[in-house]
Amino acid sequence: MARDHIRFLLNDREVTLHGVGATDTLLDHLRLGQRLRGTKEGCAEGDCGACTVLVGRLEGGALRYQPVNACIRFLASCDGCHVVTVEHLRGADGGLHPVQRAMVEHHGSQCGFCTPGFVMALYALWMETPHPTEAQVERALQGNLCRCTGYAPIIRAALAMGAHGTTDPLLDERAQVAARLADWADATRVDMTNGQSRAILPASVDDLADVLDQHLDARIVAGATDVGLWVTKFLRDLPVAVFIGHLDGLRSVTQTDEALHLGAIVSYEDARAPLLAHFPHMARYWDRIAGWQVRAMGTLGGNIANGSPIGDTPPPFIALGARLVLRKGPTRREIPLEDFFLDYGKQDRTAGEFVETIILPKPTQGTLHATYKLSKRRDEDISAVAFGMSLTVADGTITDARLAFGGMAATPKRAAHAEAALIGQAFTLDTLQAAARALPQDFTPLSDMRASAGYRMTAAQNLLTRFWLEQSGEAAALEDVQ
Ligand SMILES: Cc1cc2nc3c(=O)[nH]c(=O)nc-3n(C[C@H](O)[C@H](O)[C@H](O)COP(=O)(O)OP(=O)(O)OC[C@H]3O[C@@H](n4cnc5c(N)ncnc54)[C@H](O)[C@@H]3O)c2cc1C
Ligand code: FES
Ligand code: FES
Repeated sequence: MARDHIRFLLNDREVTLHGVGATDTLLDHLRLGQRLRGTKEGCAEGDCGACTVLVGRLEGGALRYQPVNACIRFLASCDGCHVVTVEHLRGADGGLHPVQRAMVEHHGSQCGFCTPGFVMALYALWMETPHPTEAQVERALQGNLCRCTGYAPIIRAALAMGAHGTTDPLLDERAQVAARLADWADATRVDMTNGQSRAILPASVDDLADVLDQHLDARIVAGATDVGLWVTKFLRDLPVAVFIGHLDGLRSVTQTDEALHLGAIVSYEDARAPLLAHFPHMARYWDRIAGWQVRAMGTLGGNIANGSPIGDTPPPFIALGARLVLRKGPTRREIPLEDFFLDYGKQDRTAGEFVETIILPKPTQGTLHATYKLSKRRDEDISAVAFGMSLTVADGTITDARLAFGGMAATPKRAAHAEAALIGQAFTLDTLQAAARALPQDFTPLSDMRASAGYRMTAAQNLLTRFWLEQSGEAAALEDVQ
């Protein structure tokens, strides 16, 4: 028997909603339905952070709050969560929260439009670490834009927020909120419609397989950082949406001696620690994916399944030899990640099939890795070129090479000619430059608003030289070049 409504905590109130449609957004519900207008709407595409709220969810029994963009977060996906808006920061005496007090004292606000969003992102940071470093502050605020104050006062406020207090009612009441959410966890499918569209939240991964088998045309929604924009920017309808962001069975991270297994809905943020433990070369690259809110929502499975030629995870993952587990009903199949991308907008996925797991082989001795992202802005920008590279070198000779690029073709793609120019050759700058000269046989990039074809090719070729300079120790000075 399916449930025909969702329920969640909104600040200190319980909310039960029937007839929530697939495309109803959390932001519209807050501003129009609940008249909580502290949460602002700026871009409506996850870019500016003005709509930042916290969403708390039980994960493995523990309550965890993360900042999200309410503009592209679908309301249906809030079932069983605690949504916290800026209004909830007011103290019992009506006073300011430590984060807000720091913003006032350090003049972190002028027109104030962006301020609730900054406060909520900083609130999430304060919960994790009330005394952050400047690097932590910059990382936490990558997803927030301010057009008038300037960032220096906001950063000063962030560095001072712990001095204004390290606890608040939400932290004090965390155990009670967790118990309440646990009470609601009924492992029941939610199936509801508003007359125009239908939102389904499967009860489990097995139930997801059944639902997709029954609704072959349904749209899977994981983090909604792509699908959300189809709705807010392109006004697309989603007749049937199947939400999967709540399925713990797709969120697991496990490992064997040989490989790391990442569930499809592991977010960028949650993938960070396990990934970097095995692949430290990805640290700077990973921090350049989107901003905190999108990293908290966006999933690895979504980044792959959308088939984008400019997604940031396929190039480094293909270079590492990643494999994909796809599931339809009870049947699973495993394919090399590069084989998933057939053509622009076309992937090796049948109707009703879904990405279940991404498998990354652990690094072997003698293999050198690198990954680079070239974009117009350092933070919160889509790649013009993304590059992942793994070279195995034995006794000075390259015995294996995997080079994968994004932004250079209609899909993320390996550079077969460049790889052939490397394998069996001495590991030298000359060899890498010969591989660079082979790249035009692999790719005919396009010109678009992000970069010209010529820029893409030249930059891609130069990345091979950069790899050599870094590996040979000649490139310490390149550390900060993006
Ligand atoms: C402000 C902003 C900044 C961004 N910056 C970056 C960036 O720097 N780098 C980058 O690569 N991307 C970026 N993106 C794009 C986006 O974050 C990613 O593509 C994201 O990983 C998509 O994952 P999701 O879970 O949100 O997918 P969704 O939006 O939920 O889904 C995307 C597509 O994948 C399908 N899908 C999702 N999960 C599965 C599954 N398990 N099985 C089968 N199909 C599935 C959906 O049906 C849909 O077609 C950005 C987006 C925004 C809004
Ligand atoms: S309104 Fe800009 S991120 Fe949501
Ligand atoms: S204070 Fe005006 S946009 Fe930030």
